Amino acid sequence: MPLNKLDPSKLNSWKELKAQFDKEKFLTIEKLMEERGRLKNFSVEWEGLFLDFTKNRISQSTLNVLIKLCHESDLKNNIECYFNGDVINETEKRSVLHTALRSQKNESEEIDKVVNDIRQKIINIADKVINGDKTGYTGKKFTDVVNIGIGGSHLGQEMVVEGLSPFSQNIKTHFVSNIDPDYTAKVLEKLNPETTLFIIVSKSFNTIETIKNANKIKDWFIGKTNVKNIQDHFIAVSNNISAPKDFGVDANNILPIPEWVGGRFSLWGSAGLIIAITLGSENYRQLLNGANSMDKHFRESDFEKNIPVLLALISIWYNNFFKCETEAIIPYSELLNKLPGYLQQASMESNGKGTDRNNQKVNYETGGIIWGATGTNAQHSFFQLLHQGTKLIPCDFIAFQNPLSEDAEQHKILTANFLAQTNALMSGNKAKESYKNIQGNKPSNSLFINSLTPYNLGMLIALYENKIFTVGSILNIFSFDQWGVELGKSIAKGILDGNTDSLDDSTKNLLTRYKKGK
Ligand code: F6P
Repeated sequence: MPLNKLDPSKLNSWKELKAQFDKEKFLTIEKLMEERGRLKNFSVEWEGLFLDFTKNRISQSTLNVLIKLCHESDLKNNIECYFNGDVINETEKRSVLHTALRSQKNESEEIDKVVNDIRQKIINIADKVINGDKTGYTGKKFTDVVNIGIGGSHLGQEMVVEGLSPFSQNIKTHFVSNIDPDYTAKVLEKLNPETTLFIIVSKSFNTIETIKNANKIKDWFIGKTNVKNIQDHFIAVSNNISAPKDFGVDANNILPIPEWVGGRFSLWGSAGLIIAITLGSENYRQLLNGANSMDKHFRESDFEKNIPVLLALISIWYNNFFKCETEAIIPYSELLNKLPGYLQQASMESNGKGTDRNNQKVNYETGGIIWGATGTNAQHSFFQLLHQGTKLIPCDFIAFQNPLSEDAEQHKILTANFLAQTNALMSGNKAKESYKNIQGNKPSNSLFINSLTPYNLGMLIALYENKIFTVGSILNIFSFDQWGVELGKSIAKGILDGNTDSLDDSTKNLLTRYKKGK
C-alpha cells in the first residue's frame, strides 16, 4: 500500500492546533510546569533512554491535539507500510527497508535471506581483518582502513566510528569524501599501501567525487605496489555490480546495497563495513540490536509514549506554529561531535521538500534546518544567541548518565553544564539592567541515556531516523527521494564538459576568472 496522501492543514486537528497556538502562545514553560502530572505525562523511558520533554511551550491540551493529528493523518497505517516494505518511495518506485538490515526476523523470507547474507559477509570480513586472516599483499595485518564515499556513504559511518572509538579494535580509520585534492593527498601521505584496506562506498558507483577519489587512490596504490594487489586491498560496496568489477575490484570483494536501502540510511548494511571492522563484530551486532529495539518501540508504542513520534510532533509544532526555522542538536559528548552533521543530511535531505504526495505545492512548513555542536563547546560559541537573541531555537540536549572512562569528576562537570543550560534556557534571569536580563521560556528536550555504548547509539540513531519518517509522514511529503540534489550535479557535469551556454552571466564571469587565474 502507498502512504496516504492527506493534507495535514485540512485536518481538524491542524485547525485546533492553530486555535491552541493563539490561545497559549504567551504561556511560559515555568507556568506549564505547574500542570498536574507534567513530569509523568511529558517523559518516556525506553531501555535506559529517557526523554524529558517537559521544558516545551506545549500544554497538556496541545499535546492531546498533536496526538490527534497522528491519528487523523493515519500515522499508524503509514508506519505499517514503512515496515512492511510497501513502495513508499513512490517517486523512485522503491520500498524503504533499511530497518530490515537491523532486524533478526522480517516479514519476508526473501528479505531475510538478503539481510542475512549481507550481515554474514560484513561479519566475516570484519573478523578476518581483526584476527589477521585477511591481510595485505605482503601478509601483514591491516593497520588502516579508508572509507571512500560521500553523503550517505560517509556521514553515518564516520559519526559512528568516532562516537564509539573507545570500543575500537586498534585499527585506524580514515574518510575520504570531498573532491579536494589537497585533503586526499594529506590522507595518502600517512598511509602504508602494504597495510591499508580501501572500501569504496557508492550505491550508484557513479558519484563523481567518489569515483575520482577512488581512481586517484588506485593510481597511488598501483604506483607503490602492483595492479594485481588491488584484489587484496580494495572492497566495493554498491548497488552497481559491473562498475566496481570494471574498476578492478575482485567479484568476491563486492558487497551489495539493495535498492531498498537509501544512501542516508545505509550504515546498517554493507556501507557500514568500516564500522564492523573498527568495532569488531560483537559491538557491530549491538549497534544493530539497539536500533532494532528502537524500531520495535516506534512500531508498537502508543503515540503518547512513543519517543520518535513525540519528537516529530514537537518539531512540527515549533516549525509550523511558532515559525521556528531551525532546531539545534547539542550532544554532551565530544565523541558525538559528528552527530549534528549526520542528522543534517538525514533530516534535511529527507524532509526538505516543497511538494506534497499529491504533487501539489505545500502551504505549510516542512523540514526545518538542523544544526548544532557539542556541549560544553557550544556554550562558549553560539549559546549567547540561544539565551538572549531574537530567535526561538528549540534544542535537543543529549547527555549520558555514565562516562565510559573512569573520570567521574570531569563527567560531573559536563553533566552539571547540561542540566544548567536546559534550566537557564527555560527560567532565564530577571536583572535590573536590561542587557543582563535573560527572558527564558526557550524550549528544549532532554535525552538522558545510560552511557554511550554501541547498543545505545544504535537506539539513538534509529530514534532520529524514525522521527524523520514521522515528520514526513504527517506532513504528506516523500521523505526518501532527493531530486533537489540532482540539478547541481548535472550542471557541474555540464561545466566540466564545456557546456556553458545556458549558464547565467554571473556564473560565466566566475568561470572566466577561474580559468584566467590558472
Ligand atoms: O548527494 C545526494 C546523494 O545521492 C546522497 O543521497 C547519497 O548519500 C550520496 O549522494 C552518495 O551517493 P552514492 O552512494 O551513490 O555515491
